Amino acid sequence: MRSVTRSLRDAFGQFATGVAVVTTATPDGERAGVTVNSFTSVSLDPPLVLWCLSRRAPSAPVFLRAGRFAVNVLGEDQGHLSRRFATPSPDKFAGVETRPGPGGLPVLAGTLAYFACRTAGVHEGGDHLIVIGEVEHFHRAEGDPLVFHAGGYRAVSAARRVLDRAGA
Ligand SMILES: Cc1cc2nc3c(=O)[nH]c(=O)nc-3n(C[C@H](O)[C@H](O)[C@H](O)COP(=O)(O)O)c2cc1C
Repeated sequence: MRSVTRSLRDAFGQFATGVAVVTTATPDGERAGVTVNSFTSVSLDPPLVLWCLSRRAPSAPVFLRAGRFAVNVLGEDQGHLSRRFATPSPDKFAGVETRPGPGGLPVLAGTLAYFACRTAGVHEGGDHLIVIGEVEHFHRAEGDPLVFHAGGYRAVSAARRVLDRAGA
């Protein structure tokens, strides 16, 4: 029999989202990166975003210690980065192209956008922490997003063209 948790997870999964990798670095150089689909914009003035971090994630203490993070929004061709940062590993960054962003945050190359944030609040959210960030720097590029729906990755570029033609 399917557990309620499994069914709830599946029902949550009907809400299609983008995919981001949230990265951080502490002043002493420890880095962490986590694939998330819980990212959302919150406020334009002041500029705030949020994402939810599992309390059980091994990298959670690094994010809390660093007090800052970068949200890297993945493009359609970056499923490999989503998989990489969703898999526990001692060095997720090995072989991944990054550049030093504001305050030394590791910023992933070739993404659709990034938001460099100062952690403005961390709130209880059951088995997750709700992390609020104030956006200090951001960058936007052109491209189609990586989409996550029903436990799998999706591409919207083909569907977008069809909907555009239909005037939807
Ligand atoms: C598409 C996708 C979305 C995810 N979203 C989240 C999320 O919003 N919050 C979270 O804590 N983990 C999320 N995860 C799981 C983490 O990426 C995964 O547990 C990762 O290993 C945590 O990093 P760590 O092991 O370095 O702590 C997601 C995984 C995938 C594949």
